[in-house]
Amino acid sequence: RVDCHPQPGASREVCEAKGCVWCSTTVANVPWCFYPADGPHGYTVKDVPQKTAQGWRVTLIKRGSISLFGNDISPIVMDVEFHTKDRLRFKIYDPNNKRFEVPLNIESSSNVSFEPNYDVEFINDTALQFRVIRKKTRTVLWETTLGGLIFSNQYIQLMTSVPSTSIYGFGEHEHPSFKHDMNYVRYGMFSRDQSPVVMLQALSNLYGVHPFYMCIEKDFNAHGVLLLNSNAQDVTLSPSPSLTFRTIGGILDFYMFLGPTPENVIQQYTEAIGRPFMPPYWSLGFQLSRWGYNSIDVLEKTVERLRQYDIPHDVQYGDIDYMERQLDFTYDKANFAGLPEYIKKLKNDGMHYVIILDPFLTKDEPQGTYRPYELGQELGIWINNSDGITPAVGKAWPPGDSVYPDYTNPKTAEWWIQMCMEFKNILDYDGIWIDMNEPSNFQNGQQPGCEENHLNYPPYVPGKYISFY
Ligand SMILES: *[C@@H]1O[C@H](CO)[C@@H](O)[C@H](O)[C@H]1NC(C)=O
Ligand SMILES: *[C@@H]1O[C@H](CO)[C@@H](O)[C@H](O)[C@H]1NC(C)=O
Ligand SMILES: *[C@@H]1O[C@H](CO)[C@@H](O)[C@H](O)[C@H]1NC(C)=O
Repeated sequence: RVDCHPQPGASREVCEAKGCVWCSTTVANVPWCFYPADGPHGYTVKDVPQKTAQGWRVTLIKRGSISLFGNDISPIVMDVEFHTKDRLRFKIYDPNNKRFEVPLNIESSSNVSFEPNYDVEFINDTALQFRVIRKKTRTVLWETTLGGLIFSNQYIQLMTSVPSTSIYGFGEHEHPSFKHDMNYVRYGMFSRDQSPVVMLQALSNLYGVHPFYMCIEKDFNAHGVLLLNSNAQDVTLSPSPSLTFRTIGGILDFYMFLGPTPENVIQQYTEAIGRPFMPPYWSLGFQLSRWGYNSIDVLEKTVERLRQYDIPHDVQYGDIDYMERQLDFTYDKANFAGLPEYIKKLKNDGMHYVIILDPFLTKDEPQGTYRPYELGQELGIWINNSDGITPAVGKAWPPGDSVYPDYTNPKTAEWWIQMCMEFKNILDYDGIWIDMNEPSNFQNGQQPGCEENHLNYPPYVPGKYISFY
């Protein structure tokens, strides 16, 4: 059963009006409203798939007149690109209107004369069928035969069967084991400042988003799949076994990595999205951090106690209490008087020092007193409202209200580097701990409240419905 009414408020009437099947069950988590085997949903192919330089292109036309979330897009195009012998891309998009795409350019191999480790197949049944097959074992890695593809303005959905129930990934969520429970578990994906609440088994979405999974096939070959989409989204794992992807914006842009070992999958994945940075050797050492030393005296005594008891200690941290009134790029000259000299002393002893910085800045300090805000304001680097010019305002640690630097703006990088360099002349830190960059806001929405529009109140809100604030 693939859920045909993923939002609250399902009933037989609503369900049947959508062309779906209503059948109650006492089994927990199993949807009561689900897509029929051959319902009036999905897309059908318009022409036979066309060969392109890199693979195939197929144009899809929506079937039927039922619209589950309004503003369905038709025709849509599916491009299949053979990127490397182990990497396949398939992308479904609106050919007539540009929609948001994550600005990450994953290059295809310039050498087109490779022999791929996968086959693709299109089947023109009543609805689209698309398969990816591992050549060597004929295992079907991906098969969209489970029901309706939906491609509407604010609701995009695709289902696929997967070759086993050994599915890993889809960070970051709270869940009890690395191998996922496939019993109709739904994970919302939207980064937020939420710490795990173990007792509730809330499956909550946490600080980061990695729309990537790895599947271990029954013969222990492994493959991975990335959905390159940064809109709010969720994924449902069901026991058939299958996956249902839902996103409320952008396009569907999948990358599959053929492995065949888990290590190969990760190598191929990071070859595509970028390798992690090489951490400095010292950062692999013993580190101590806490919120609430509150004074340099307590900090010094803590460091001394570690030495007294021979506890290894390579790196010391300063949490927000080192700052003056929790203002980035300042330190508390009363309670942490002498911090610059103390950091030098720690470094002379072979240690390293990491400071915290929070990616929001108060806009309410008296004029002429807080350069980080004023320079940012001059450069126009804050995240703006939909009018394009008014900064979005929230509330976080520092006094007053906060604005949020837009880290996709190149000018923000200039500003950030400048501020970090100036501050390093004051506190000679070795590393920066960037916290709360989800970004975090202590208020529900922004000030003075969110405008009532289709973007702030979308027809479908991804997630689990029990774990939102
Ligand atoms: C695909 O199938 C549909 C219905 O089964 C049919 O109307 C259509 O002509 C077929 N398209 C192609 C390209 O074969
Ligand atoms: C392209 O790939 C093929 C197959 O792997 C290889 O034999 C050939 O040398 C490659 N050509 C270039 C120019 O790298
Ligand atoms: C945001 O608004 C400021 C003016 O407040 C403007 O200078 C800046 O260019 C805007 N940012 C973007 C990305 O448009």
